[in-house]
Amino acid sequence: IGKLNHVAIAVPDLDSAIKTYKTKLGASVSSIIEQKEHGVIVAFIVLSNTKIELITPFGNDSPLINFLQKNPNGGIHHICYEVEDIHESIKSLVKAGGRLAGNGKPKLGAHGKPVIFLHPTDFNGTLIELEEI
Ligand code: CO
Repeated sequence: IGKLNHVAIAVPDLDSAIKTYKTKLGASVSSIIEQKEHGVIVAFIVLSNTKIELITPFGNDSPLINFLQKNPNGGIHHICYEVEDIHESIKSLVKAGGRLAGNGKPKLGAHGKPVIFLHPTDFNGTLIELEEI
């Protein structure tokens, strides 16, 4: 793995979370991106060394609905590491006994780059996203 690309925080109200980061922390926040195929709407807080991804559910079968039911005020949802070649990373992970979340096929993420999620049980309960950069 390479650099930390972002930390994602699930929020029940995206507009209110954006406002909080802007007014209370003076953060610079990207425009809102709808990712219908992932069932989420996101906005990025842009920091000099990384990003914070604020994510809120889109639609009734969003993977975030369960998470927000358990954590109604929101919370840290996943962290994303950069990798050079996502297919190589998947190969070596699986070879080492690691598991992928979902169908195991990379999807296009918020930046139009391929992403994959790893099974949280293998990583101390942390959902990990790999993004090819
Ligand atoms: Co992410």
